[in-house]
Amino acid sequence: MPTMADVARSAGVSVATVSHVLNGTRPVLPGTRQAVLDAVDALGYTPNTLARSLVTARTRSIGLAVSAISNPYFTEILQGVEAAALHAGYGLLLADPHDDPGHEQKVARLLHERRVDGMIIAPSAQPGELVGYLRRHAVPTVFLDRLIDGADAAVGPGAPRFDQVCAESAGPTARLVAHLAGLGHRRIGLVAGLPGLSTTRERVAGYRDGLAAAGLPLDDRLLVSGNSESAGAERATAALLALPDPPTALVTANNAMTLGALRALAGNGLSVPGDLALCCFDDFPWADLFSPRLTAIAQPSRELGAQAVRLLLERLAEPDRPPRTVRLPCAFVHRGSCGCPEGPERPGAAPHTVPSALSEPLPVPPSEKGTAS
Ligand code: HPA
Repeated sequence: MPTMADVARSAGVSVATVSHVLNGTRPVLPGTRQAVLDAVDALGYTPNTLARSLVTARTRSIGLAVSAISNPYFTEILQGVEAAALHAGYGLLLADPHDDPGHEQKVARLLHERRVDGMIIAPSAQPGELVGYLRRHAVPTVFLDRLIDGADAAVGPGAPRFDQVCAESAGPTARLVAHLAGLGHRRIGLVAGLPGLSTTRERVAGYRDGLAAAGLPLDDRLLVSGNSESAGAERATAALLALPDPPTALVTANNAMTLGALRALAGNGLSVPGDLALCCFDDFPWADLFSPRLTAIAQPSRELGAQAVRLLLERLAEPDRPPRTVRLPCAFVHRGSCGCPEGPERPGAAPHTVPSALSEPLPVPPSEKGTAS
C-alpha cells in the first residue's frame, strides 16, 4: 500500500504539503497541488482515515438518527444532510430510532461509541433519556424537526443547550384553516400528529389560531389524533365521518396521515372536494398526481437537512458559542383538493420548489492540525 511519504517523494514535495492538498488545510500553489494529485493518481494512494482519526481525534463523520426514513419528508431531509455533509468532507452513519425513546438512546450510544464528530437527531416524543445521555457525554448535537422546548418536562428546566432546526408549523397550519374558512367552511377538522412532538403541538396551536382568526368556535370533537401515521389517521378520519354533524373540510397534519384520511374517505364512498374539502401539511413528490391535486404546505425538507449540517459544523468549529434555533418557512401550494378550481397559475399559488440544499455556503470545517496517515 503506497503511503503519504511515497506520494511526497514522487511529487517532490514534503509530507506536510501532501497533507495540506488532501485535507484542504492550507492553500497550496496550483502547480504543486496538481503534482500531488498526479502522484496520488499514479500510485493509487488512498488515505487511511482510521490512522488520521487517531492523530486528530476526529472521524469526519456525522451520526444521523431519523425515524420513518421511508417517509419522503425524512428521505429528502436525509438527502439534504448527505449532500451538505459530503460537500464539507464528512461521511454519515445512519440510524432509525423508530420514534422509540429506549431505542433512540441505544442508537445515540452506538453512534457515540463509533466516535462520530457530532449527531443530527430527530428526537422522539419522550426525549428525556436521550437528552440526558447527550448532555452527560457532551456530544455536539443538532436536533432536527422536533424541537426540545419547555414543554418537554422530562428534559428539565432551562434553555436547551442544543442547536435546533425545524420548519414553521403553526403559521402554515393556520393558513390552511383560514383558506378553508374563506371558502365558507364552518366545520373544519384536524387530524393531528403524535402527542408529545413539538410539530404536533404547533400544528394544533395553528389550527386553533386559524379558527379563532376566522371567528369559528373550537369543537373538540373535530380535533382528533392520527398519531402521525396512516393507519391512525384512517381510524381518526372514520371517527370524524361518523359524527352526527361531521366536518365539511379537513386538515391533515402530515403526508402519512393524508394517505390514511384519503383511505377512510374512499372507504366511505366520499369524494374530495365534493363531499369533503382537504388541505394537508406536507407536499410530496406525487401529491400532484392525486385527482384533484392536493393543496398542501411544502416543508423545505432538503434545506432543513443542509441547515442541520451547517449548525453542526459551526458548533464543531466553535464549541462554546450559544445554542441557536433556526426556523425555516414553508410554502403554500394551492391546488384543487381545497375546492378551488384547478389551474396552473392562480393568484396565491406558490411554486412547488424548495430551496437548494446548498443555497447558503457551508462553514469551513474545523482545521485538522498535524494530519498525517
Ligand atoms: N414532522 C414533521 N413533518 C412531518 C413528519 C414529522 O415527523 N412526518 C411527516 N411530515
